[in-house]
Amino acid sequence: MTITTCIFDAYGTLFDVNAAARAAAAEPEGKVLTDVWPTLARDWRLKQLQYTWLRAVAGQHCDFWQVTHDGLDWALEASDIDDPAIRERLLALYWELEAYPEVPDMLAALKGKGLNTAILSNGSPDMLDGAVTSAGLTDLLDASLSVEDVGVFKPHASVYDMVGAHFGCAKDEVLFVSSNGWDAAGAAGYGFQTVWVNRAQEPVDRLYATPHHVLPDLTKIPELT
Ligand code: LAC
Repeated sequence: MTITTCIFDAYGTLFDVNAAARAAAAEPEGKVLTDVWPTLARDWRLKQLQYTWLRAVAGQHCDFWQVTHDGLDWALEASDIDDPAIRERLLALYWELEAYPEVPDMLAALKGKGLNTAILSNGSPDMLDGAVTSAGLTDLLDASLSVEDVGVFKPHASVYDMVGAHFGCAKDEVLFVSSNGWDAAGAAGYGFQTVWVNRAQEPVDRLYATPHHVLPDLTKIPELT
């Protein structure tokens, strides 16, 4: 089936989730982060994601901004940082994460080919709006679909159902792109064509499905459509 619709995960895929801790550490007020920011960024992301999965299984949904706070608080305590100003700065930077450098050209190429483009993310609508706007991607995306419309996090099937409901397309017309191995696996199991963007050269997740394509970054996505 021809691909008509390209769907992107947001955090870690279009937007660099390490950028907040890296940028805060580079600021004059961020000296406490100089040595620990990579560990802090890793812990923050890991706890944020673990909390989404645990809340989904337990039926205890809250929005992604809440788990982003909760993950950061765990990570700051693990790094022995008790500094409200640093916490506020990290959260502010998370609101305007950098997009990876290849993102604008890649999305423009997809739009040039007439494809639908959208985000499908755990992020709340206002978080996604902040990130898309600050990265200058508004005109390159047809929609930002948020799990808040279904009240459960990925990889619940009702999240992936939002794509067909929005675009009226069949599952196998969709190319779903994520840098999260578990998200690419979830989407492959659901029936989308999938790309895992494996920037960190990690092993493939041992789950119930595997991604159809593995790429080192987003540059070659238009060639798959
Ligand atoms: C998202 C997270 C999983 O954007 O990265 O949905």
